[in-house]
Amino acid sequence: MTDEFLDTQGVRGDRSTQSVFAGFQRLSLEERRERVGVELGLDAEALSGLTGEQGPRMQTTLSAVESAVGLFSLPLGLGLHLKVNGRAYAVPMVVEEPSVITAASFAAKLVGEAGGFLAEADPSLMLGQIQVTRFGPPSFAMARVLEARTELLALANSLHPQLAEEGAGAREVEVRLLPSPEPGMEPLLVVHVHVDTRESQGAVVVDSMMETLAPRIEQLTGGKVYVRALTHLSAQCLARARCSIPERTLGDFGLSGTEVAEGVVQASRFAQADPYRAAAHNKGIMNGIDALALATGQDWRAIEAGAHAFAALRGRYGPLSVWRREAGNLVGELQLPLALGTVGGTLQSHPGVQSALTLLGRPNARELACIFVSVGLAQNLAALRELGAAGVQRGHMAVHARTVASSVGAPPEWVEAIAALLVQEGEVKPDRARQVLDRMRGGGEAASLAPPPPTGDLRRREDLE
Ligand code: MEV
Repeated sequence: MTDEFLDTQGVRGDRSTQSVFAGFQRLSLEERRERVGVELGLDAEALSGLTGEQGPRMQTTLSAVESAVGLFSLPLGLGLHLKVNGRAYAVPMVVEEPSVITAASFAAKLVGEAGGFLAEADPSLMLGQIQVTRFGPPSFAMARVLEARTELLALANSLHPQLAEEGAGAREVEVRLLPSPEPGMEPLLVVHVHVDTRESQGAVVVDSMMETLAPRIEQLTGGKVYVRALTHLSAQCLARARCSIPERTLGDFGLSGTEVAEGVVQASRFAQADPYRAAAHNKGIMNGIDALALATGQDWRAIEAGAHAFAALRGRYGPLSVWRREAGNLVGELQLPLALGTVGGTLQSHPGVQSALTLLGRPNARELACIFVSVGLAQNLAALRELGAAGVQRGHMAVHARTVASSVGAPPEWVEAIAALLVQEGEVKPDRARQVLDRMRGGGEAASLAPPPPTGDLRRREDLE
């Protein structure tokens, strides 16, 4: 199968992802780094940023926080086979949970073979809020703010003329009246300012605008302003992804493709009906999104807050994605707010973040959001496919077994076989892995270790290569 490949200059090629990443998981760390450098065209600096060898620039990274004493490491891996809007990506993911990258790559491959993800993202429209109290008659205060719309927008934009010149910056003023949380008390008046922040995530731009507007809002309303800040529920900055996979390609776990698809749909219905299930469903989506957010230097706390607030926006917490069966296909859709940035703050100074963005072909904020939302949907598919069929434990166990085998020093070419044996025995523990490894080194157990049995996640992983 050939697949388009996005190189670091954003140029599409027709190299096959299959050949680029064939056997990637089985290479040693050094070999993987070399392969990434060669295949993805990363120069030595970009590669060292990605692999954590940050050299002299480490000082800049450390100075991002007060009282720093060191750097804290997490694994950075590549989610493979992702295809979004016809372009192929190797996705940098920072995550400690062993199954996340395997699962994302597997689902991305399934979807990629069916044409890939279609995704779109809204412009970076962020929302600033100004809370006004003690303002007298509400209709008078509201009218005064709305009459001053043009003046308020100009005042906000005077702080960031560059944005305004690009046709971005503060765009609209809105006034909301909220019932008081205490019965019988005066309502809250909230001024909303919509700001197009383009390539920046928006916190600095929007907070500074709200702080500048606050005294003028007090003058206009005669009230007193308290909070004036960005909200992370960016409900007008949504990203959407969709995929459609022929059911016949989904057969696994001893089940037909139709049965697996039905399992996914039933899991999706469960999440729609029950906030308890929806919380786990959404956590699965965020597994992928957070991992990519960490690698690309995004404020993942803001993304999390926005995603869950959006999931509850209709008055009841629900799933961010839905799955249905349609004309022989399994169709999934995911929508969530994604306020991302490609410039500013930590993004600029962290060499790993810069390398991750280079690896993705230097996307702008909206293109990046398309990659994020597709990764989220891939991660969700991987989880529901297993949950609706056989449960996730077997897959998790297989991935965990590989980690255990590597952790006791098994060479990459033996990891699969040792992991398969541990899973088969139901004893995924370092002591047993060490025993097996010692016997293999002595030549004893090597011959008796068959290749991994063709079941569950181990088989699926073979399929990836
Ligand atoms: C585990 O990290 C993620 C899952 O719980 C997601 C889900 O339940 O959909 C498996």
